[in-house]
Amino acid sequence: MAQLLDPFQRRIEYIRLSVTDRCDLRCFYCLPEDHRDFETPDHWLTFEEIERVIGAFARLGVRRIRLTGGEPLVRRGITDLATRLHALPGVADLSLSTNATRLARMAQPLRAAGVSRINVSLDSLRPEVFKRITKGRLDKVLDGLMAAKAAGFAPIKINMVVMRGINDGEVEDMVRFCLEHGFTLRFIETMPVGDTGRRASDCYISLQTVRRRLAERYELLPGTSPGGGPARYVRVAGSDLTIGFITPMSQHFCETCNRVRLSADGTLYLCLGQDHKFEFRPLLRAGIGDAELEQAILEAIARKPERHEFSDRPEKVVRFMAQTGG
Ligand code: 5AD
Ligand code: SF4
Repeated sequence: MAQLLDPFQRRIEYIRLSVTDRCDLRCFYCLPEDHRDFETPDHWLTFEEIERVIGAFARLGVRRIRLTGGEPLVRRGITDLATRLHALPGVADLSLSTNATRLARMAQPLRAAGVSRINVSLDSLRPEVFKRITKGRLDKVLDGLMAAKAAGFAPIKINMVVMRGINDGEVEDMVRFCLEHGFTLRFIETMPVGDTGRRASDCYISLQTVRRRLAERYELLPGTSPGGGPARYVRVAGSDLTIGFITPMSQHFCETCNRVRLSADGTLYLCLGQDHKFEFRPLLRAGIGDAELEQAILEAIARKPERHEFSDRPEKVVRFMAQTGG
């Protein structure tokens, strides 16, 4: 079977595909409230172009695709795209990261299109705090989550960016919520990606602290990682609840990085915390053939840097998280 290896012998088998940089929320750590500088539609890869690039990645050994954004469900026709990607030879796993605002309507069709697992961003269970963080409405997100549960996604993971003084007092509430609904819970540290991310770093709290606090209330057993991701998992004794800690700041995990990110405009970003990139759109629009496309991917992967420098050089990444999809 084909294998895609980067210069540090890491096997790249996962691609995060941002289908739009737009979003119907404005999480303050991600997008500036007045942000207008979105990619114009003529720059978006078409579904045909996406299919060609992802098809080539799959021939080279990439097995898992995650649809992300911005908010992927604001891209028109996303269910059709899911169907087409799911049908590509070699694609074994199609997943979705969403803010769930549109999931009430779309959960079932997406499941039918072959999306098997979803991650939902949910930072607060209190409507006013949720509004303060995202400018959006919590009830829509909760409706979306319940629709996802009914549609049979497994697992459903809740991603909570933990911020001091904003939602760190809700960590226990979120544990109870996930216990009740059978969701997997993951805590995330704020990252200095874009000006927004750097501003949010003022409320950075190390997840090592959060974990110690949880350990006072629950018995935490070593857990196994359900996927290939960077979270370190524990299991809450006497329950099925798995909790993951994603600690890019306090304990980086670059040595096991298995992923690259394709943005909506066809730029491949080799690292969330670096500017190394490769542009596919010009090649696609110049009519590149399949063999050359595979060659271009090998060239791109050869540019993957060893690690992010969030701690040493937090000013480095100027793009917003919504451009690369987290
Ligand atoms: N730091 C950490 N996580 C972030 N996300 C967006 N911006 C940041 C940031 N600065 C997360 C969202 C979501 C995922 C898409 O990325 O909370 O879970
Ligand atoms: Fe939208 Fe996700 Fe960014 Fe929030 S974090 S503004 S939901 S893209």
